[in-house]
Amino acid sequence: MAVGNFGDGMDGIYFNRIAGSGEIYAENEPTTTLLAKQGDLEVMLYRIGGESVVWLFPASDPNAIEFFFVHVGVVELALDDGVVALEPGESFSVSGLTSEVPVKMHGDTQILYVTNCPAYESVSRFEESLSDLLKRVNEKDHYTFRHSKAVLHYSLALYDAMHENCPAIPRDDLAVAALFHDVGKCFVPVEILQKPERLEQNELRYILRHPVDSGRMLLPKFGEQIAEIARNHHERLNGTGYPRGLTKEDISLSSQIVAVADAFDAMTSDRGYNIVKTFQEAAEELFSLPQEFDTRITSVLKRLVKNGALDEGGTANA
Ligand SMILES: [Fe+2]
Ligand SMILES: [Fe+2]
Repeated sequence: MAVGNFGDGMDGIYFNRIAGSGEIYAENEPTTTLLAKQGDLEVMLYRIGGESVVWLFPASDPNAIEFFFVHVGVVELALDDGVVALEPGESFSVSGLTSEVPVKMHGDTQILYVTNCPAYESVSRFEESLSDLLKRVNEKDHYTFRHSKAVLHYSLALYDAMHENCPAIPRDDLAVAALFHDVGKCFVPVEILQKPERLEQNELRYILRHPVDSGRMLLPKFGEQIAEIARNHHERLNGTGYPRGLTKEDISLSSQIVAVADAFDAMTSDRGYNIVKTFQEAAEELFSLPQEFDTRITSVLKRLVKNGALDEGGTANA
């Protein structure tokens, strides 16, 4: 019988001694420790200090199961029909999720996380920036925060329904890009973001550069593929978009998906100064602009709206 440290790759009994477990919490800087791994099964310890929000995403694998045990702290799940608070010793499991769920942590928190869908690598990469970026957007402007969630929801619905035309990018990467596409707005003064009247030329400059800032903020943590989506979500196929006026061949299909989701949410939500369109009107209008939006995407959007598939998720009519 071998006895050693986890990761030695031998049969036997393995011990995990986590330095500072239960004592060291970094404010809004989560750490995830991989405690055990066997095949696709992973057991992780997630620790974070302060107030923070993480997200549960629908898994791409229908057989995925995730189990969470609250060891330290209080965890709140914001569900459609109310908030459920869990205390130490309580747990929850997740399977077959159809829309993303925000999970709030209060104070120092430790959660044991078990999944049969390998997540450690993407979770640890994702969480480094997630809470910080999300916090910045939320502090800035609640419209942008709600809009970011809606664009995430629509982008994933389009991605899932596109089948053979689906871009090669992993689903989780598209999710990161969609959720944070407008994070560069944290550099736009709040008076400009919320101004109901037409913007002056010097004010417009701030708006025009937000995709560049989003891309710049995402690049070091998440790489070029995700940064490109954020940078190009206001570009249009015929070169009439901004900030660079790129054309079709220079805009990835993934960023076009986020562009359609972005425009769709802007058209169907009340921003205080626009005429709010119905889902059907917005989908028809986007489909009628093939010179700007890819019809491989807008045709799928039209179909999803017709089938009522976009009404779920809690973001559709928010
Ligand atoms: Fe934007
Ligand atoms: Fe946007």
